[in-house]
Formats: sequence, structure tokens, C-alpha cells
Amino acid sequence: MSDENKAAEAANATEFMAKLVALCKRRGIIFQSSEIYGGFNGFWDYGPYGTPMRRSIGNLWWKYMVEDRDNVEGLDSSIICHPSVWRASGHVDHFSDQMTDCKDCKKRWRVDQLPVPGECPACGSHNLTEPRDFNLMMRTYVGPVFDEDHIAYLRAETCQPIFVDFNTIRVAARQQLPFGIAQIGKAFRNEINPRNFTFRSREFMQMEMEFFCKDEGSLDWFEYWRHERWNFYTKILHIPEEKLRWKWHEKLAHYAKQAVDIEYLFPFGWDEVEGIHHRGTWDMSQHALFSKQEAQCKYFDAETKEAFYPTVVETSCGLDRISLMVLCNAYDEDTAATKKEGKEEDARVVLHLTPMIAPVQVAVLPLSKKLEAPAREVQKALRQACFRTEYDDTGSIGKRYRRQDEVGTPFCVTYDFDSENDHAVTVRNRDTMAQERVPLADLSAKLFAWIHA
Ligand code: GAP
Repeated sequence: MSDENKAAEAANATEFMAKLVALCKRRGIIFQSSEIYGGFNGFWDYGPYGTPMRRSIGNLWWKYMVEDRDNVEGLDSSIICHPSVWRASGHVDHFSDQMTDCKDCKKRWRVDQLPVPGECPACGSHNLTEPRDFNLMMRTYVGPVFDEDHIAYLRAETCQPIFVDFNTIRVAARQQLPFGIAQIGKAFRNEINPRNFTFRSREFMQMEMEFFCKDEGSLDWFEYWRHERWNFYTKILHIPEEKLRWKWHEKLAHYAKQAVDIEYLFPFGWDEVEGIHHRGTWDMSQHALFSKQEAQCKYFDAETKEAFYPTVVETSCGLDRISLMVLCNAYDEDTAATKKEGKEEDARVVLHLTPMIAPVQVAVLPLSKKLEAPAREVQKALRQACFRTEYDDTGSIGKRYRRQDEVGTPFCVTYDFDSENDHAVTVRNRDTMAQERVPLADLSAKLFAWIHA
């Protein structure tokens, strides 16, 4: 690609991201934490529309990975655990990136993210400090004394408590190998350079599943989970296959037999949303070494009468990163019919979110404020049927459609003056903008079928 084309592509990506970030703020989807203090780099808040969207994605993951399987159990561990956990995992000594400072403009960079090695991307200076290691673990103190002996860490990944709790969970759930343990929760990393909206944050949600099995056959399990995870993105979240790809790790950790990432084509380029890792027996043997509780970290095979460290296959993704992916995938600008004077069509911004994760699944819009009472009854019935609903009676119907399009509402139900007589409403489809008259008696069933299609 020529330099000119590259520059044009970068400008398009910047413009796209600027529009998405602006929409997310304006409509209360995602915005900077502590904005009235100027924001806090790498920390984000989810508003009234972002919260249900992120939760729904998390719920879909939980159902797919835990509830729909007999061989995966759930965990919700504390964020802070014994500091030795992070010594055993290697995070205290080795979880670092190399950073460098520009001596001229004073900006700080991750060495592996410099587009031109040795050159500051902000001012072009080559006057950079020698690279040095920077540990990403976030520290705090536990107890009344703030000294080295009381340092604790905010977890940098959600999987370590899974390894530590392996035997307790196995016994409680009466599981035999092979089986998995899954967790959704916060993780914290003191990233040198948070960037690309929520893509690289300092506080984020991870969704991880650790699958414990015998070493023999573990590569088959790796293949199994790799395909399961691909299906989650394509069949559950409806991400087009052509926007996803595999990225195999060339350099493997010494204990790993295989590792691959699933990447998505973000506006700023291909980048990772999930890693599927063969972790060997590394984690379990490390925790045995540091805790001296070997029996808790091994599995006793009743048939062979042998105890051994289970091999682990991990699926690890970021809920915020997936949320960003679905927003990037859903954002669109097109035109819609308008009743504005002198215009037949008007520009509209629309999020083509898959209905299962749309913050509002059905908006109820009475044609006139006079129809509030029966329209509220429709909303009440839809809420009871477990749809996420919103009621809106302000502004013209066209403006109300635009408002719902912007937050990705797949269906708008209009209650009009005919509804009183024909006991039916008009359902408008966000994507096709087609309208269909639906009897009130069939409304819930039809919406259910469309939303779960
Ligand atoms: N337990 C393995 C592990 O944590 P990782 O590749 O460091 O592996 C897994 O992280 C996933 O967590 C990534 O694919 C990404 O989706 C998410 N993630 C990691 N760092 C992140 C960050 N700073 N901000 C947002 N998401 C992040």
C-alpha cells in the first residue's frame, strides 16, 4: 500500500473512532471516568445504555461457557488475594513491559509499540531514554501499616484464583477430570500507554475459563475450545467471519504446547480480542511450589491410583474489548425517510447491534401523549415478558426512531389511535426500517422469535 493510501486509511480510522467515542459519550454508552476532573487515563464508565449492553454480552458468555455445559463450573473470587499468588504466577517478577521516555516532549511509550524504533511518535525526536522494565501490577496495602510487608496486588488476570481454588471447587462440584472453571471479573494493569478508546484500559473486565485435563489429549481439548470460541463470536455475537482471524503465536512459553489469538479487524487495524492458550502444568505446579500444598494442586486418578498436576487449556477474553468490537461492528451511517420540510431523506446514525445485546430491545412509542395509558400497558406486558424496554413520547415519531437507532434498539412499537380498535400496534425494524402491523395478542411471541433469531 502506498504511503498516501496508508495516511488516508489512518485518517479514516481516526475519524471513525472519533465519531464512535462522541456517540458513546452523548448517548451514555461509555465515557471517561472522572470527567469533571479532566478524566483519568485508562479508566472508563458505562452509562445507562452501555451497562445493559456489556452485561448482556457477559451473560451470553456465561450461558455459553458455564450454564449450557455440565463440565464447566463458575467462580466469583475476590479481586485481592494473597500476595504469594502473584509471586507464584511470576507476575511480581516478570509481568512487565519495556518503556522509554522522550527527553524532549516528555511523553512515555511502550518500546514494542513505537511505530519507528528509537523515534518518539509524538515529536519525532530520537532523544529517548534507555528502555527499562516497568511492572504492570497495581499495588495497594492491606492492613493498617503502609510498608513493604503489607503490599498486596489488584489481580492482573482473573485466572490465578481459579488455579488456587481448583481443588475446593472440584470437590464441592464433584467433578472429575476433564472439567473447567470459569470466572468473569475485574482485572487491573498499570498499562504504560492506554489507547484506542477502551481497547487497552487500566481497569477492565476479563472472562476466562481454565479447562483442567490430562496432558495426553490436551491438544485435542485445545482444538475443541478454539472452535467453540470462534463459534461464540460468529454464531452468538454475529460478528462476520471476514472480520475475524487466527493469529498463531510464534514464540511459545517454555511450558506451552500451543497458543493462538482471535483477532478482529478494528478501524485501527487487526488486534486481539481473545487468547486460547495451552498452559501445560505450569500454573498448578507453581502454586504447589509456593503454597507447599501439593495435594491441593494435584488430581488423584482413582483408576490408576496416581496423583498428577492437571494440564490447563485456557480461553481468555476481555469483556470491554469485546464490547468495543461489537460497537465498531455495529456503527453505521445511512439515510432514512424524513418528514422535514424540503427533504425526502435524512442522515441517520445507527448501531446494528445484535438484538440479544441491545441495551433497549423494544421501545414503546405512543403516537400521541393522549395514548400514554394504553401504551404504558403494552410496555408493562413486554417488561413482564423479560424484554429490555424504554418508553418515549417526546418529539416527532421520526425523531424518536432516530434516538432509538443511535442506541441500537432493534424494534420500535408504535401505539396509535387505530390500536384502540384493532388491538394491534406497528412494529418498526431498525435495520430494514420496514413496518408491520402486529396484533397485541401476538406481540411478545413475535418479538421473542425475532430477538432470538
Ligand atoms: N490469563 C491470560 C491473560 O490474561 P492476556 O492476553 O494478557 O491473557 C487476555 O489477556 C485478554 O484480556 C485479551 O485478549 C484482551 O481481550 C483482554 N485484555 C488484556 N489486557 C487488556 C487491557 N489492558 N484492556 C482491555 N482488555 C485487556
